[in-house]
Amino acid sequence: MDSDYEKKTAAAKSLDWIKEGMLVGLGSGSTAAHMIRGLGEKVAAGLSIKGVPSSDTTAQLAREAGIPLITLEEAGKLDVNIDGADEFDANLQLIKGGGGALLREKIVAYNSKFNIVISDSSKQVERLGKFKLPLETIPFATKNIITELDEMGLSPELRKKGDEIYKTDEQNYIVDVDVLEQNDLVALNNILINIPGVVETGLFLDTTDVIIMGKDEGTVIFKK
Ligand code: A5P
Repeated sequence: MDSDYEKKTAAAKSLDWIKEGMLVGLGSGSTAAHMIRGLGEKVAAGLSIKGVPSSDTTAQLAREAGIPLITLEEAGKLDVNIDGADEFDANLQLIKGGGGALLREKIVAYNSKFNIVISDSSKQVERLGKFKLPLETIPFATKNIITELDEMGLSPELRKKGDEIYKTDEQNYIVDVDVLEQNDLVALNNILINIPGVVETGLFLDTTDVIIMGKDEGTVIFKK
């Protein structure tokens, strides 16, 4: 089945969790974009919610869809957050950040009472790591961080956009690393996050409550 069809199906199903008056975290990426367009249709039909976007691109998309936006500061805790993923496993652990929005995505997820991940079936893996793990890094420290990651055997690559270094919404860099051979991702995440200048990692190890995966004509739900 076409992965975009599965993304749309998962996104449509996730809207069942949105109720009147909720504060909603709006994820980033192509799967979340389907959800945002669907949510916009519900708002146009009379649903009253407010959204907190996890990236500048999502903020723009949400405005175009007619979804009222507030800041995280104004919202405090969100009722529900709906976002995509680059990979997920049977324990609802994720790699995110393929689109570069991992920092705000993790902040929005952390500040949400309930986290839903929407995905096509190609993202389901037995073991995380075929997808390179994105790390958001402070430009000042990035060269030294890359040297350290190289010494750790993680094959770091500074993300580029054409000839330019890719910059996140927070004006940081992204370094993508290879974690496929790593057996203890919790320990690895602790090591990575403790390197000064690493702002955030794309490992979302304990944030997800439900994964809705589009599969063929329907959806499969994974729960904690
Ligand atoms: C954005 O930084 C990512 O975390 C996305 O959530 C992830 O890349 C999924 O994107 P797609 O829905 O486009 O596959």
